[in-house]
Amino acid sequence: MIARAVAVLGLGAYLPDRVVTNDDLAQHLDTSDEWIRTRTGIRERHHADASQATSDLALAAARAALDDAGLGPADVDVLIVATTTPDHPVPATAPTVAAGLGLEVAAFDLNAACSGFVYGLDVASRLAEAGATVLLVGAETLTRYVDPDDRSIAVLFGDGAGAVVLRAQEGAEMGPFDLGSDGTDISMLWMRAGGSREPFDPVAHADPSSRIGMRGGDVYRHAVARMTASSRAVLDAAGRDVADVDLMVGHQANLRILAAVAERLGLPEERCQVSVDRHGNTSAASIPLALVDARAQGRLEPGTRLLLTAFGGGLTWGSCLLTWGGR
Ligand code: UT7
Repeated sequence: MIARAVAVLGLGAYLPDRVVTNDDLAQHLDTSDEWIRTRTGIRERHHADASQATSDLALAAARAALDDAGLGPADVDVLIVATTTPDHPVPATAPTVAAGLGLEVAAFDLNAACSGFVYGLDVASRLAEAGATVLLVGAETLTRYVDPDDRSIAVLFGDGAGAVVLRAQEGAEMGPFDLGSDGTDISMLWMRAGGSREPFDPVAHADPSSRIGMRGGDVYRHAVARMTASSRAVLDAAGRDVADVDLMVGHQANLRILAAVAERLGLPEERCQVSVDRHGNTSAASIPLALVDARAQGRLEPGTRLLLTAFGGGLTWGSCLLTWGGR
């Protein structure tokens, strides 16, 4: 079957209270509101406060999604947290979130960088199709991993979390999916130290290798090419045309990337959800946060056909079609 009979029963988000504008950043960085807006479309982003870890953001979004679905924690069979910024290298963050909900269900993390939510949706919808009620959360605290003095990175990222509850439902449509990766040049977007190849130590922590590094121009070109090709792949697999897409909800890294993908697909820009202006790049959280925005703007109705498409470090990418059936 091309599409799975799985529905989004509930959708929730959490954004930390602290809003950091471009002008705020320009106070200590050699940058400007004008540069950031014209190059990225970002006007502001949220920063978690020092007491908040990824699981705190994830838990708030998870609770909101369950409330939205009219379900309680006891209804959840599996909890997945898509994140590239876990609370700790070990263990995964999902069990902490599960414990916060009072659950002892299967709980695991999924790291596909900024593509994590779309990857998570594929995994979660398979489990849901098999009968599970799945809570999928995309949650990130990327501002912890950026060098605050590196203007090429610090202006891009924001913190946040978004969550969906999935369950099998007759007549619902999720898919097809197209996922891919290319690990031949991981340094295009990475954090070098802190893993098994190059562990953290206090000396290394003072070094740029313990902060996110990115070759922005290369990532930009790959993002546009991969998101466009992956979107075409799911449309082709479904036997559909871009005219069948009511709304594209792409990974929110850069407004110019979203506009370029829409243009290449032949999708009018007004059918492209934009949330990057207020969120910055929240990695795995960006698509569910954009979905919450889209719904608040009245753009999600039962039957709305969505194209989700993402791209991130790894490199990873993924796309899927989804007919909105949720609230
Ligand atoms: O989430 C995963 C996927 N990530 C992405 O999709 C990000 C992809 N990349 C991008 O969005 C863009 O490449 C960036 C927004 C990161 C950079 O935009 P760009 O138009 O590619 O700029 P650039 O890197 O080519 O830099 C142009 C100039 C440089 O100065 P010179 O060398 O021309 O003198 C930079 O030093 O802009 C300078 N620059 C800045 N100037 C003011 C870089 N960052 C800043 C800044 N403020 N914040």
